Amino acid sequence: MRIFLAPMEGVVDHHLRNLMRRIGGIDICVTEFVRVTDHVLPRKVFTRYSPELVDVASQQDNQRCPTRVQLLGSNPEAIAANARKAARLGAPGIDLNFGCPAKTVNKNRGGACLLDEPNTLYEIVSQTRRAVQKDVPVTAKIRLGYQDRSSYLENAQAIYEAGATELVVHARSKTDGYKPPAYWEYLAKIRETIDIPVVANGEIWSLQDYQRCKQVSGCQDVMLGRGLLAKPDLALAIKAYEAGRQYQDMGWSQVAAILLEFFEITCQVYAKKYTGNRLKQWLFYLKRQYPEANTLFEKIKREREYEVLRNAVAAYL
Ligand SMILES: Cc1cc2nc3c(=O)[nH]c(=O)nc-3n(C[C@H](O)[C@H](O)[C@H](O)COP(=O)(O)O)c2cc1C
Repeated sequence: MRIFLAPMEGVVDHHLRNLMRRIGGIDICVTEFVRVTDHVLPRKVFTRYSPELVDVASQQDNQRCPTRVQLLGSNPEAIAANARKAARLGAPGIDLNFGCPAKTVNKNRGGACLLDEPNTLYEIVSQTRRAVQKDVPVTAKIRLGYQDRSSYLENAQAIYEAGATELVVHARSKTDGYKPPAYWEYLAKIRETIDIPVVANGEIWSLQDYQRCKQVSGCQDVMLGRGLLAKPDLALAIKAYEAGRQYQDMGWSQVAAILLEFFEITCQVYAKKYTGNRLKQWLFYLKRQYPEANTLFEKIKREREYEVLRNAVAAYL
């Protein structure tokens, strides 16, 4: 089975991907969405979203755990042309975003609103498929529908017939938002209908959630987003379970060491006024799993000083 690290705009950038790859258990990453309108984007846009394309050290990672480039838009020709460019730059896969619920994105006919237009999904996927070499996977990520969950099979079928390599399904409609539960049972129906791998996504926070998701959906592969941020070794725990191995969960001091490394990296790349923002953002997710993360968050939530923030995290090592 494979574990995908979910694309998360503004959260899962290449720094976080690199750390997650090092922690282990994940097999495939996806960039944050790259918005496509009607023209071919310059190279620097692709390398900004996916520094893995140009960074020599990351290129090895990209072979072991490839980072697919995610495109978002509604113009099939433009998406196909950008997919071709990304693939020529070395992208090891193209993912198409048909799940984003953001109002600004949907207003411009991008993301989840296209779930009301199966013909457009078909056009985007088929033109993208034709635009890149056969050995480059073209995948799609959908929700179960836009206003409701009635269109899921029709959309899955359209994407399949258009030649997608695999389909990731966030098991909720756009209207369902992020409110639990995730409707994993719909994925079983999709699996019965199409003949490509279906990757289950949504509300997998623990090994037990994974086990239930697998049982209900029948999916081999899963995509983990917030669950992996809340418990950075969740993929390792799942892989150990699948291999029949005992697994010792990562303790808070190990997580704090990773967090400190992340903090140092972000201090190098962001302007001083943003010091600590990314650290606090990750702590927000970690709070769900580790009480210490909540204590730390409360302690530093208004802090901006490098030394104070650093010492607060280092105190847990
Ligand atoms: C802050 C945030 C940003 C996201 N950005 C993207 C994105 O750029 N592309 C995408 O396909 N999905 C995006 N998603 C959706 C996630 O990939 C995933 O489908 C969703 O969080 C459900 O999975 P989870 O319960 O494992 O988190 C985002 C979700 C969140 C919370």
